[in-house]
Amino acid sequence: LEAVFQAKRLAGKRVLVTAGPTFEPIDPVRGITNLSSGKMGYAIAQAAWEAGAHVTLVSGPTALDQPYGVQRQAVQTAQQMHDAVMAQVASHDIFIAVAAVADWRVANASDQKIKKTTDSDTPQLQFAQNPDILASVAALPQAPYCVGFAAESENLLEYGAAKRLKKNIPLLVGNIGHNTFGKDENELVLFDANGHQALAKADKQTLARQLVDEIAARV
Ligand code: CTP
Ligand code: CA
Repeated sequence: LEAVFQAKRLAGKRVLVTAGPTFEPIDPVRGITNLSSGKMGYAIAQAAWEAGAHVTLVSGPTALDQPYGVQRQAVQTAQQMHDAVMAQVASHDIFIAVAAVADWRVANASDQKIKKTTDSDTPQLQFAQNPDILASVAALPQAPYCVGFAAESENLLEYGAAKRLKKNIPLLVGNIGHNTFGKDENELVLFDANGHQALAKADKQTLARQLVDEIAARV
């Protein structure tokens, strides 16, 4: 019901959101992923729709239902997420990168299941760096308004401000990884050119609505 009474502050805007973890295969039955549940990104996609936006969600593997009104494309790897975002971003006004994208993929992934051979023989994984989706979007000549997320484990104020500058984006949202991954509540710190501002601990849907208001006020 709250959605009905909320001001449609993003009416006419097109918003692209990434959410969830990525999954990087080791072989056809194994892979590397992370503890992101997708809840924060899905809550933001829902809140943007409530605010009147047309919302596209590119999601890594999660156990979550498609948010009402939102168009979802499911992907597995960081490369697939990158390709899906780059194919669609041109028609969007706002890009919100909430996904916990794997920084590295397995360079020598096996086409067949790796078999356990002898007691001493363990697989040797090599890694290659994945494309930085947010940096790729921010570098486009007609870049949308870009919002990044940072899950840190320490020094949030210092790392958050530095990461916003490094990624060259107007708004970066910081949180503490072990306080958010898989949880229903979170607390956020917003970093922009004017400094930082906290959004106090609340459930993710409440925080998502507050964040969407903050974004709408800036675009
Ligand atoms: N991101 C992305 N593509 C990547 C890695 C990160 O789009 N390959 C986005 C995330 O969705 C997030 C932001 O970049 O919005 C910051 O991610 P983070 O992992 O905190 O930053 P990194 O630059 O990868 O730095 P770190 O070494 O701390 O992981
Ligand atoms: Ca990273």
